[in-house]
Amino acid sequence: MSQHYNSLISELRKTVDDCESQHDLMNVKSKYLGKKGLITIEFESLRAAQDDEKKELGRLLNDLKNTALEIINEKQNSLINNLSLDNKIDVTLPGKNISIGSRHPVSIVINEITEILSHYGFTQETGLEIEDEFHNFEALNIPSTHPARDMHDTFYVDNNKLLRTHTSSVQIRSMKNSKPPIKIMTPGKVYRCDSDPTHSPMFHQIEGLHIDSNINFCHLKGVLKDFIDEFFGRKTEIRFRPSYFPFTEPSAELDIKFNGRWLEVLGCGMVHPNVLRNVGINSKNYSGYAFGLGIERFAMLKFGIKDLRMFYENDLSFLAQFEGLK
Ligand code: PHE
Repeated sequence: MSQHYNSLISELRKTVDDCESQHDLMNVKSKYLGKKGLITIEFESLRAAQDDEKKELGRLLNDLKNTALEIINEKQNSLINNLSLDNKIDVTLPGKNISIGSRHPVSIVINEITEILSHYGFTQETGLEIEDEFHNFEALNIPSTHPARDMHDTFYVDNNKLLRTHTSSVQIRSMKNSKPPIKIMTPGKVYRCDSDPTHSPMFHQIEGLHIDSNINFCHLKGVLKDFIDEFFGRKTEIRFRPSYFPFTEPSAELDIKFNGRWLEVLGCGMVHPNVLRNVGINSKNYSGYAFGLGIERFAMLKFGIKDLRMFYENDLSFLAQFEGLK
């Protein structure tokens, strides 16, 4: 028996000697010690052996296996040592740089705006992205004949459910769920059936709402003036232009003087008494203002981004420019 083992070992030694690479050596290893390897199958003879032979046979088989492993390991070490200097691993070399990601400009602007507004006492609410007609339209005094309710402008999920077209729907949820004083800001995604270089079917808005006793247009002007100054830097020229929204009365749009030109940046107004009535707030005791703005527009102005589509393409060289910003 041991004669047979000896010849197996010398045969193995010869094939190992002929190996020129790790790959060759691994093939030899599996040929002898793999699942159906020449040495592995020798262990099957243990099963047939008499009880008194088993101990000795086991010892011989283990010796055989260990000798084979020693021969293979020795060869492996010598292959590694003989590698040319180029192929050796130099553990003293510095590791590969792992680049750290950056925040998306939309997130940076949301963080900055919510930070500024939090100083005025606004707290954050998120609401729902899939809304019903009541919260997105009806309660906001938007009649069923209003063009915004058309399928061309709104993504409907079913007859009554839709993707919210503005964050104003969160106003309704808040006013229904809590009693004045209410002072909330609502950053989030909104959706409209619109897609061209200056419109995206999904974009971000933030809404501000303040309801309390004796709130008037001066409060609205004061907050927005300070907010714009903080966001764009001191002494930004602003003007309020009369406008129309079904859910505010009076309504206005706010323009800022940017590089010598007036630009419209947000919509605002005093919450319409019908809206207050729809959520069960008595408009004799309470009043409030609301404003809503597009985050992408603010980000474009702040960072000088010319094309809206840049926000959604995930181009790493574009995104890397915002590294370090919070
Ligand atoms: N919801 C309006 C829009 O999407 C913005 C707005 C909010 C206007 C609150 C007035 C008050 O354009």
